[in-house]
Formats: sequence, structure tokens, C-alpha cells
Amino acid sequence: MNESWDDYAEGWDSNEDVISYSDKAFRTLFEVVNPEGLLILDFGCGTGLLTERMAITADRIVAVDPSEKMISVLQNKQLSNVETLIAVLSEETIKTYDLFRSKYDVIVASSVCSFLPDYEGTLRLLKTLLKPNGIFIQWDWLKSDEDNDSDFNKERIESAYQRVGLEILSISEAFSIESEEGPMKVIMGAARKTL
Ligand SMILES: C[S@@+](CC[C@H](N)C(=O)[O-])C[C@H]1O[C@@H](n2cnc3c(N)ncnc32)[C@H](O)[C@@H]1O
Repeated sequence: MNESWDDYAEGWDSNEDVISYSDKAFRTLFEVVNPEGLLILDFGCGTGLLTERMAITADRIVAVDPSEKMISVLQNKQLSNVETLIAVLSEETIKTYDLFRSKYDVIVASSVCSFLPDYEGTLRLLKTLLKPNGIFIQWDWLKSDEDNDSDFNKERIESAYQRVGLEILSISEAFSIESEEGPMKVIMGAARKTL
């Protein structure tokens, strides 16, 4: 399943930009929440670059991704407090998999939301997987070109959080990654499930 992401799996962990993105996402995570002792869902975990950093102190991490090969790279890391799941999130898979029946302290989505066919619908489903006061955090490329509908800006994130009923904690430019065309900015959104 998901052949296009499967194609990236082998070289993912040796891509310096990808490593730098994960390092910076991990560092900025602490501006919102300390993962120590928490039950965390890494949504769209890929090869688990963020998972492995959080797993050092988190209680347990469930890492989910539709790409079998990305998950396979993560499984080979043999992290004792990490469980993996190859799945697409939907109402059906939430009913099917026990790991989707758990409630999480934190859900992270690092460079994932722009690949979702239905961002707001997915947020609604993820909200059901959060404990009361649980926190959702996303990192995505900041929209720099008005014609690019897949990247994010503050307004898009803000309106989605409001429409799905998540309390906005912060939406900010978190860091940037150097590229040949200059720095590429990353926006981080964080929200809490209040009910
Ligand atoms: C840019 S990679 C990021 C991977 C990882 N989070 C990281 O930071 O290294 C995007 C990931 O999103 C996953 N993905 C694509 N479509 C998805 C979907 N509908 N639901 C969840 N994850 C998805 C891909 O399989 C891929 O692993």
C-alpha cells in the first residue's frame, strides 16, 4: 500500500534535511509539552525519526503510518516502548484496531497534514483519540505561494481547530530548513481537547 511513500523509506533516515526537520520538531515540541512519561500517538510517523527521539523519555508511543516500508524501517530500530501500526485513520479503522481505541496524552503529526486528503476530517477523528486535555501538535511547511493549496498558514490551521472544536494553544513559525532556494519555513500548530 502507499507505494509512493514506500519508495522514500530506504533513504529517509540518511536525508540531512529530514533529520534536521525531526530534530527541530522535537526541540520545539517542548515549547508545548514535555513528552516524559506520556502516552503518545505519532500520526504519519514515517521511519520514526520523531518517535525515536520522544521514546527516550515517553512512557509509550504508538506510531502509525500507511506506508509498510516506512514502518518496516521503524520496526528494525526495535524500540522497546514503541508499537507500530500500518493503517489509514478512518471511522472503520478506529473500530478495527485496539491501538486506535486507546486515548492519548499527545498526538503529533510531523510533516503529515499536507498529505491528508481531508485535513479537517482527520482532525475530527484524531480528536476522538485524545484524552480530555490531550494535546495535538502539527508541523508543516508554511505556505509561501498563494497557489499552493497543500501547505499551511496560520489562518488555515486556526479555522480548522475552531471548526473541529479544539482549543488553540499556539500557532507559530517554529523553525526553518535551509534549501538551495533559501530558508523554507515550518509552521507549528498546537491545540487542546477541552471536553
Ligand atoms: C514527509 S513524511 C513525514 C514522516 C515523519 N513524520 C517524519 O517526520 O519523518 C510524510 C508521512 O506521512 C505519511 N502519510 C501519507 N498519507 C497519510 C495519511 N493519509 N495518513 C497518515 N499518514 C500519511 C507518509 O506515509 C509519510 O510517512
